[in-house]
Parts: sequence; C-alpha cells; structure tokens
Amino acid sequence: MPVTAPDLLKSCKLLPLPLRGDERGSLVPVEAGRQVPFDIRRVYTVFATKPGVLRGFHAHLATEQMAIAVAGGCTMILDDGLERRSVRLDRPDLALTIPPMIWHEMEDFTPDCVLMVLADAFYDEADYIRDYRRFLDVAGERRR
Ligand code: TYD
Repeated sequence: MPVTAPDLLKSCKLLPLPLRGDERGSLVPVEAGRQVPFDIRRVYTVFATKPGVLRGFHAHLATEQMAIAVAGGCTMILDDGLERRSVRLDRPDLALTIPPMIWHEMEDFTPDCVLMVLADAFYDEADYIRDYRRFLDVAGERRR
C-alpha cells in the first residue's frame, strides 16, 4: 500500500519498503517486480552533494525511476506540467516512483545523503528534457 502524502502528485507513489531488523541492525530488500514496479536496468547513486546545490531540473520522455534516500535526506520537487509538489525523502525504507514526464528537481541535501535511483532504462541523454518550456509543451501535447 502506498504511503499517503497529501501533497504528492497523483502519478508519483511513495512506497514503503520491507524493513527487516533484528538486534544486529536493519536491512531493506528491494526487488524488481515486487517493491520495484519495473525491471531494473540501471542503478546510480547521488552523494557528496555540496551544500546549497540544486540537482535534476529535467524530465524523462520514457524512463521510469524509483528513488530511495539510503542515507541522509533530500527534498524532491515534482512537477507534471499542471501541479508542483515536494516530498522529503529521508529514510531507507521509503521509495518514491518517478514516472516519465515528471519534471523533477532536488534540493536540501544533507551532507551525508546517498540517494539511490533505480531506472528501467540505460542512461540515454536523448531521453532527457532539460528545458522547462519544452517540458511544458510536450506535457501539454501528451494530455491532448
Ligand atoms: P545529471 O543529469 O546532470 O545529474 P542530476 O540529474 O542529478 O542533476 O548527470 C550528471 C552527469 O552524470 C552527466 O554528465 C550525465 C552523467 N550520468 C551518467 O553517465 N549516467 C547516469 O545514469 C546518469 C543519471 C547521469
């Protein structure tokens, strides 16, 4: 069951991940087709982000992603072309899905933040929209 976040965009989901803990500590499994709603083709991490840095500022034409703050935290700003919402990712047992055509920006990284991102496609710059006006145009066309 997705976690409800009143401010989240409808097409993005916050999914709780299984937290396996015992007296030794904690473990969170993340499995394709189970917790992850797609086949994973790529994993990348964003870390050592300098104070005050803003990242992202793009949308993907087709790539779907899932982001997990495995350490520390950051704020994800999500925009579908109609609405803009932000959500704080700051625990390793919480995943945010970012479907295609969601403009996203990241800010307020804690110094220890390690953001792990799972993607259903290999890195391909041609899949990026990095211009916000173009994003609004494509989003509008797709809504028609
Ligand atoms: P960039 O898209 O600027 O990161 P962010 O969205 O967090 O602002 O990516 C930084 C650099 O890393 C850029 O040169 C592209 C490269 N990159 C890869 O080579 N593979 C990847 O999977 C990703 C996400 C980025």
